[in-house]
Order: sequence, then structure tokens, then C-alpha cells
Amino acid sequence: MNILLIGAGGREHTLAWKIVQSPKLSNLYVAPGNAGTALIAQNVNIAGDDFTSIKNFVLDNDVEMVIVGPEDPLVKGIHDFFINDSELAHIGVIGPQKLGATLEGSKQFAKEFMMRHGVPTAAYESFTADTLHKGYTFLESLKPPYVLKADGLAAGKGVLILNDIEEAKNQLKSMLVDQKFGQASATVVIEEFLDGIELSCFVLTDGVNYKILPEAKDYKRIGEGDTGLNTGGMGAISPVPFADADFMHKVEERIVKPTINGLKKDNIPYRGFIFIGLIKIGNDPKVIEYNVRMGDPETEVVVPRIKNDIVDLLIAVTKGTLNEIDLEIDDRSAATVMSVSGGYPEAYEKGKEITGLDKITESIPFHAGTLNKAGKTVTNGGRVIAITSYGSNYNEALNKSYKSTELFSFEGKYYRKDIGFDL
Ligand code: AMP
Ligand code: GLY
Repeated sequence: MNILLIGAGGREHTLAWKIVQSPKLSNLYVAPGNAGTALIAQNVNIAGDDFTSIKNFVLDNDVEMVIVGPEDPLVKGIHDFFINDSELAHIGVIGPQKLGATLEGSKQFAKEFMMRHGVPTAAYESFTADTLHKGYTFLESLKPPYVLKADGLAAGKGVLILNDIEEAKNQLKSMLVDQKFGQASATVVIEEFLDGIELSCFVLTDGVNYKILPEAKDYKRIGEGDTGLNTGGMGAISPVPFADADFMHKVEERIVKPTINGLKKDNIPYRGFIFIGLIKIGNDPKVIEYNVRMGDPETEVVVPRIKNDIVDLLIAVTKGTLNEIDLEIDDRSAATVMSVSGGYPEAYEKGKEITGLDKITESIPFHAGTLNKAGKTVTNGGRVIAITSYGSNYNEALNKSYKSTELFSFEGKYYRKDIGFDL
């Protein structure tokens, strides 16, 4: 089978690493990919939202399955584009149609879905410029900290958590009236603050059946001790020690089942991954958000723990036969440590040569923001390389990742040395 994978990050390199282990694969294409995917697959210079070029490529190269890594093409309707085109309709697409992708594309849609189906989440109300003053009154009824969320996609920056009521009111106005996040903040969801510890749950579904993949915990802040600005993610571990069997049973019964049943009840077709951002409060899970894709860098620890042929799993998703497969999970822990460009998540330089990756033997280097240029591997993004290792526990896995991380270099390289510090 020929497969096209869309995306260019560490998530996609990891998926590619897993896909090329399948005997069912003939050719793997990655659009646009990075220097890591170029080592194991064929990169294709097409952007994920250039649907016409994707169509031509798919038809010219007998692609039978398209796996969509990031949310953007899904929210823009790539799956619908395939279904509505007679030449493409038979091709399996991994990732929901536009309606399902709204679970990530609109916070308000996601909150309404959770309320309708009894999925535990923070209490909330949503506001527009016309109801700004009701928003102020609602803020006054809450205790700090105040959680303000732009309804639409805002490149991971649309959530503000503020301690001061006046600051919260000012930010609400700036989001609604001054369009701080453009159209994405034309509606703002104000939520009750949830105090607990976060983790991520991943579900693969064909819309009827589901498999719960290994859970993971990622570290979002740039600074050690979880300080400083939010990033895409600086490291991750799986499994998560505090997500014991009892807790994961609650997650399945209270969250996963109502979510899958809710999709069915609402006639929302869904074939792909659901990433459920959870918070553990006492011993109970609540949902912070849904994403309609895998997480990054969570994929770098979740996918290496899946023992099944991932192509078998994904074919079952496209056929609606996921119930026929038993998921097999590696008992070992996996940990990943992300090296980033100096200055990230604010301004940073690109094009720095990366050397020493060939010295890594105990870990798997997954490329995130990298590019091949004039025979060299150079940095091409904020997050550059994720180093994943296995171990009998997360400490052993982390130690290996840290040793391997010291073996390669590029100008301005930074990584957090305290991943797992809070466990
Ligand atoms: P989101 O984009 O919805 O994942 O929010 C970004 C981050 O904000 C989350 O990963 C949490 O750390 C934090 N957050 C979001 N909603 C809440 C909430 N209701 N209470 C506490 N923290 C939250
Ligand atoms: N690591 C968080 C995300 O992928 O959104």
C-alpha cells in the first residue's frame, strides 16, 4: 500500500518511523516532511492545505491512504474534500471531517458537546462583543484565577489564565472588541479554573469502535520547574505514574465512552485520533480540551509503545473494523526530551547546522524542525529534535534521552533538564 502522511514535525517523523516497519507498506510519502522523514520516506513539497496539489499527487502515485498529522488541514476540510470527489472518495483518510474537527476548531462547540453528553469538564459561559458586559458580570461571579479562551484556533496561544479581575476584564475586551486573536477570539469561552495535574489520553476510533492508546504527560513550559512561556511541548513520558488502572477506568467510563457515543448520537462521523487533554482533580478526571489529532511531543512516546502494525490499525479505522484488532502495548516506559532553538518560543534563528546525531545509539532521534540544505541537516523550527528512549521506568528512559541529547549540537540549543521532575 502507498501512504501519504501530511505534516512536518516530530509527530510525523514518529508516525513515519512506525509506518515504515509495516510489511504492508510499499511507499511512504510525507508532505512536506523534514530531514528526519527524508531518511526513511520520500518527502513531497506540498503544503497540507493545498488540496488540489494533494489530489494530483495522490492520483499520480496510487496513494491508498492519507494520514493527516496536524489539525489545520482537518479543520479546513481535507477529509470532506476527499469524500466529495469521485476520484478520491475510495481513499482512506485518517482524521475527522470538518464537523468532527470542530471539536478542536471551536472551544464553544467542544464545551456544548461535553455538556450534551455528560462529559465532565469545567463550568463555562461564552461571550461575544455584544455580550461583553455580561462577560464582566460572569467574571465577577468567579474566583481567580480566571480562564479566558479564544473560541477558534490561535496557534496554541488563545488561552489566558489571569489572577487579577481588572486584567481579566481588559483581556476579555481586547479579545472580543479589539480582536486580539483575530476572528478566533470573536467568541470567548470563560471557564472555571481547574486545579489539578494534567495528562493526555489518546483514542483511535473508526467512529463506532475505539482503542485507548497509551496515555502521556507532556511538559509545556519553556523553563525548568514549569515556568515561563508555553511551548508546543518540551518533553513527554508514557505511561504516566499517577494514571493508575482505577483512574484510567474512570477515564474510559466517564469520558471516552460518552465521547464516542456522543459522536454517534450527534451523527458526527469520525475516523482518526482523538487527543483528550485531561486534568486529574483528586482521583477524578475532567476534560480540558479535545484535539482531533495526535499530540506533539506525546506521539514520540505513545507510538513507540504500540506493538501492533500501525498500518493494520489504520486500515481497520478506514474500514470500521477496529473491534477485530487487539491492541498490544509495550510494558516499558518511553520518555522524550525536546531540544529547541535559542529564543523559542519567542523569536529564534533557523538554518543552524546540526551535528552528532549519528553518535546516538541508545535512543531514537525524531526530527521536528529540521531541513536538509546543501548536504547538511539544519534547524528549521523552534522545536528541533526529540530524543526518545525506552526504559524499565521513566527515570531510566529519561536518563538515556539526556545522555543522547548531549551527543549532538547546534548553535543556541536548549532543552529542559527536569522532565518528569513533578512525578
Ligand atoms: P487548552 O488550549 O484548552 O489546552 O489550554 C491550554 C492550557 O491552559 C492547558 O493545557 C491548561 O494548562 C490550561 N487550562 C485550560 N483550561 C483550564 C482550566 N479550566 N483550568 C485550569 N487550567 C486550564
Ligand atoms: N503537546 C500538545 C499538543 O500537541 O497540542
